[in-house]
Amino acid sequence: MSTQPIGIFDSGIGGTSIFKEIKALLPHEHTIYLADSFNAPYGNKMKQEIIGLSIKNTELLIQKNCKLIVVACNTATTNAITILRASYDIPFIGIEPAIKPAALSTQTKAIGILATKGTLSSELFHKTTDPYRHGIKVIEQIGEGIVTLIEDGKTNSDEMRILLQTYLKPMLEADIDYLVLGCTHYPYLIPILLDLLPKHVKIIDSGQAVARQTKTVLEQHQILNTGSTSGNNQFFTNGNIDVLNDILDGKYKVQNLKF
Ligand code: SIN
Repeated sequence: MSTQPIGIFDSGIGGTSIFKEIKALLPHEHTIYLADSFNAPYGNKMKQEIIGLSIKNTELLIQKNCKLIVVACNTATTNAITILRASYDIPFIGIEPAIKPAALSTQTKAIGILATKGTLSSELFHKTTDPYRHGIKVIEQIGEGIVTLIEDGKTNSDEMRILLQTYLKPMLEADIDYLVLGCTHYPYLIPILLDLLPKHVKIIDSGQAVARQTKTVLEQHQILNTGSTSGNNQFFTNGNIDVLNDILDGKYKVQNLKF
């Protein structure tokens, strides 16, 4: 049993989609969330810079006594998690796009993946997804501009809708029946995506799988909080506090912090 908090970081507010799944599964855990919105998006940055930012976020969460860190950002996971795991003693949970379930279930033998350039070009992404590509067409699409719009509070804008229509076009032409969301910001697009996609196309994101994996790893390390009271959740942002507050529906205490 451990009452130390779980640390969660992302390039901004998108990792709150993961926080919400963790909170639903592990309500007794205390959490500390870092939104590195000042440096968003990570998706276009060079690998070394992504590693540097991930180390900075990790150091801060460790200073705040976190027992486990969820790298709630696909780009940071695919570029930095191997180094983080080798450098620190605590466990790390990463976010990998759910290509496997989509590849195993597709009927049309075509699936789409929307992710950042940093994720799609990473070695780890190819290593973990290559085994599932045989006989299946995987349409990879860089979601250029999406994270910036979400960070600017324009998730439901016409600009976003037009961008998504452009990105979905080649996927629909290839007759995909699964769309994999490969960035933790993208679950917030699900209402628009449902509107733009034909009914038979299913959307997959990794949130619930990550929450289950977090629970498993806490149990394996015997650091699960088995208390019965609701956990305390702290949020820190180096960006726009209102946008983070809005995405959390004003339910939690959000603070500005320079990091
Ligand atoms: C980004 O910061 O560009 C996206 C974060 C992610 O890949 O989840």
